[in-house]
Amino acid sequence: MIDLHSHLLPGLDDGARTLSESLQLARIAVADGIEHMTLTPHIHPGRYENDISTIQPIFEAFQQALKDEFIPLTVSMAGEVRLSAEVLMLVAENKVPFLGRWDDKNVMLLEFPHSHIPPGSDKLVRWLLDRNILPMIAHPERNKDIVRDLDMIFPFVEMGCLFQLTAMSVVGRFGMGGRQRALEFLQRGWATVIATDAHNIEYRPPVLSESYIAAQAIIGENAANDLVYGNPRKITGL
Ligand SMILES: [Fe+2]
Repeated sequence: MIDLHSHLLPGLDDGARTLSESLQLARIAVADGIEHMTLTPHIHPGRYENDISTIQPIFEAFQQALKDEFIPLTVSMAGEVRLSAEVLMLVAENKVPFLGRWDDKNVMLLEFPHSHIPPGSDKLVRWLLDRNILPMIAHPERNKDIVRDLDMIFPFVEMGCLFQLTAMSVVGRFGMGGRQRALEFLQRGWATVIATDAHNIEYRPPVLSESYIAAQAIIGENAANDLVYGNPRKITGL
């Protein structure tokens, strides 16, 4: 399986704290059947001041450490971009690492605040689309506005955004509201990928297999395969 959203790179955000923890997380992922992970530290102006220049050296050191430790996991780097006015500048200065490509567009992992969808979010998405950047909205099923009212996501579906569900939501570990919305995204065919959004060993480990099995039962094997193999391959080019 391929996991497109994870916080394994050490010391850049609220994910892994040390290289040793990163490597432990990588071993858990491999044991779960994950072959490739895209590492997506938070790019959250005012909180986690990351961009390509801060992520790249940590990424290269981690990639080398995986080789040195003979851990059979390939990795690539991107970032989880918090929706904010600063995104405009980061994009204009080519400081945002993308997940890959979808058709002829660059794919950006874009995160709304958990509490709501800020007014003007649709305008920012339109601005990105005009620059050939296609947002993949991170874990929409956990956003409180969307948990209250699924219709809140319609404008983003209509604009052609991609959607990433979090594995733990699909199996109910982010509450029943999140699980219900995750099921609706699956049943409506809106989900592009399921990813771990792994942060740590204890509470948010890099495990995809349970949600993959759960998704098979809901939408069938072929559609579930698209979420952890087909679509991630298309985006990463693997
Ligand atoms: Fe994340």
